[in-house]
Amino acid sequence: MFASARYAAVDRYFEERLGLGDAVLDAAVADSAQAELPPIAVSPCQGRMLMILAQLAGARTILEFGTLGGYSAIWLARALPPGGRLVTLELNPKHADVARRNLDRAGFRDSVSIRVGPARDTAAQLGAADGAPFDFVFIDADKPSTADYFDQALRLTRPGSLIVVDNVVREGEVANAASTDPSVLGVRRFFDRVATDPRVCVTAIQTVGAKSHDGFALVRVLTSASSPPAM
Ligand code: SAH
Ligand code: DHB
Ligand code: MG
Repeated sequence: MFASARYAAVDRYFEERLGLGDAVLDAAVADSAQAELPPIAVSPCQGRMLMILAQLAGARTILEFGTLGGYSAIWLARALPPGGRLVTLELNPKHADVARRNLDRAGFRDSVSIRVGPARDTAAQLGAADGAPFDFVFIDADKPSTADYFDQALRLTRPGSLIVVDNVVREGEVANAASTDPSVLGVRRFFDRVATDPRVCVTAIQTVGAKSHDGFALVRVLTSASSPPAM
């Protein structure tokens, strides 16, 4: 068996054994496929991980870059306490329409707001009225802009917030200094920036599974633009 087939089989085993699917999530995946959205949502195991991380962060307000069909947004919204809010940013109006239906069906008509447009613009417009400072941020939109979204995330968080960045490994290409892939260059630019930023504590974790070889960066905010450094 190829390694990649084994990774996918283990993901299926965990999904089934741990009961990570349900009718609402299955319907979101099915309707996203029906609308011909690309099959690039986080996996069920990754979705549950995002939910657990948001709960550990005590998140009452969450910001997401890159909605697609709302699959990761459903997992994140499930982490919210009553009265909590999720804002998710999406460029493509068709993706946003599919996501709106999936999120409504999941019970998040009132708690999740989808902002349509380039995230560079919609993020720049966010402030206290939208839930900032956000307790948890998931960055998963266009990869060349990852470093810019990270800057916005820092502006919109507080000390103790958690920022998770998806797709930071890309089949290992992140370690290829000669890569000219704009997505790889974008991720490397993010790591260059975050590595020397005294306002954060960062690590990165490789993953295998149904989504092949990829990974997440985990960034804990220590101090932020909106608060003075701790003495
Ligand atoms: N978080 C989703 C997957 C997101 S896929 C999940 O796991 O379920 C990436 C999404 O980012 C796509 O829907 C794409 O349309 C969107 N995107 C691409 N460029 C963007 C931009 N400039 N601003 C906002 N969203 C963008
Ligand atoms: C791609 C984007 C994603 O957000 C992801 O999780 C996997 C793949 C892509 O653009 O190829
Ligand atoms: Mg992703």
